[in-house]
Amino acid sequence: MQQHNVLILDFGSQYTQLIARRVRELNIYCEIHPYNKIPENLNDFKAVILSGSPSSVRSDEAPHPDLSGIRGKKPLLAVCYGAQYLAHFSGGLVAPSNTREYGRANLSFVKDNEDFFKNISVGSQVWMSHSDTIKNLPTGGTLLASTHDVENAAYKIEGETTYAIQFHPEVYHSTDGKQLLQNFLVTIAGVAQTWTPSSFVDETVADIKAKVGNDKVVLGLSGGVDSTVAAVLLHKAIGSNLHCIFVNNGLLRKNEFTDVLKQYEGMGLNVKGVDASARFLDELTGLSDPEAKRKAIGKVFIDVFDDEANQIEDAKWLAQGTIYPDVIESVSVNGGPSATIKSHHNVGGLPDFMKLKIVEPLRMIFKDEVRRVGASMGIDKDLLGRHPFPGPGLAIRILGDITSEKVRILQEVDAIFINGLKEDGLYNKVWQAGAILLPVNSVGVMGDERTYEKVVALRAVESTDGMTADWVNLPYEFLQKTSNKIINNVKGVNRVVYDISSKPPATIEWE
Ligand code: XMP
Repeated sequence: MQQHNVLILDFGSQYTQLIARRVRELNIYCEIHPYNKIPENLNDFKAVILSGSPSSVRSDEAPHPDLSGIRGKKPLLAVCYGAQYLAHFSGGLVAPSNTREYGRANLSFVKDNEDFFKNISVGSQVWMSHSDTIKNLPTGGTLLASTHDVENAAYKIEGETTYAIQFHPEVYHSTDGKQLLQNFLVTIAGVAQTWTPSSFVDETVADIKAKVGNDKVVLGLSGGVDSTVAAVLLHKAIGSNLHCIFVNNGLLRKNEFTDVLKQYEGMGLNVKGVDASARFLDELTGLSDPEAKRKAIGKVFIDVFDDEANQIEDAKWLAQGTIYPDVIESVSVNGGPSATIKSHHNVGGLPDFMKLKIVEPLRMIFKDEVRRVGASMGIDKDLLGRHPFPGPGLAIRILGDITSEKVRILQEVDAIFINGLKEDGLYNKVWQAGAILLPVNSVGVMGDERTYEKVVALRAVESTDGMTADWVNLPYEFLQKTSNKIINNVKGVNRVVYDISSKPPATIEWE
């Protein structure tokens, strides 16, 4: 798709996605491909980066791809395991190191290489994470830099634009890592820094037009950032041929269905709001097991969506808000396409809408880039900054069985909490927040009367991707005010607690 594209070959490092993000921050487009599926047509790529890996090149099971189509033919930067494998592959020697080097180290240049180390000073801090070391450089190798413990910390191969570094330039602790990536990609490999949110929009709109033509496309909106940005991109490309469906499962936040629907209509989207609350609640009756609730919600959603999609005559495509981390996961060294197929999609055959062709305009960008793309298209910043909200909604925040009364109570509590965070300028400091209705009653006293009512828990976490999270230290004054407001205004609640558990070992949701 892009003319100035960089290939990142993934050897399974936890940092591979970070390499891609640093490269994208330089306004350079890049793609991650697993080492065992090197793209056939390398003409599409201006440069190649080899990632790190948890493996040792000395192990038979470690990634050992044939680099002969790349080395010497494309500008190449090998990182950590990549540097070791390049040495191993090209006549060098890799051995266990006497001192395992993890964490900070400082560079000293053995050979001045103006281009590679441009604007990087001697002593620059780099981040190491390896237990093998390169004992002998590969044939044609010239040493460029060392650290206190690692002699061969950076080398190049003479006569080629091939560079290798033992440290990780992609992590923030490598102070000049981004500069080094820029030196390699821009100065040495000549890659243009032309990839920006608006260039992405222009190219994606052109791609969608070419792919979809005059066909009709169906898209399920959720109120979240990804489906909204995907819809606006598609709308730019095909206008009213995009048919959006926004389903109310009755488990959204208070007033969310009407508010968000209005917002979508204001954006000019061709959107149908379908209130299926009763169908969802019906299916959930008597269920208290979290997985059973999720399954029931998934099933009704598919039924409702299928009914609606079938009413759009001649729809040929299903649009999805899939983003790059999901794609990488599904083709990763450890994962596989099967990991992305949910079990309930296979029961009793695929629903009709799953037989449509798929268009995924965000499949090559990261979450923060989705937000930047959304902002460049003028999407409201409050909508782009919304906290993540789980698909099953409040169903997994009402512990135990679900009734419409419990949904009402939780919607009221949640609205007081979330509006309070917004009013006190705390909303944007929190990654995700919500309230949980506990399946216990507690004794209280209101006026002169004894009460025996529900307990709610408040949860606010900070996180970057939801994989790990910590509870937010909200001001006591805020918690005090919120608790009073909830107990005084929400009938049926007489106690509020605050969840101070991190993930792991807890999870963000209680179910
Ligand atoms: P946990 O509870 O696993 O949550 O720490 C991590 C993130 O995932 C969201 N989550 C879900 N999202 N369907 C979704 O679409 C689900 O079943 C689901 N369960 C958890 C959760 O809100 C958090 O952002």
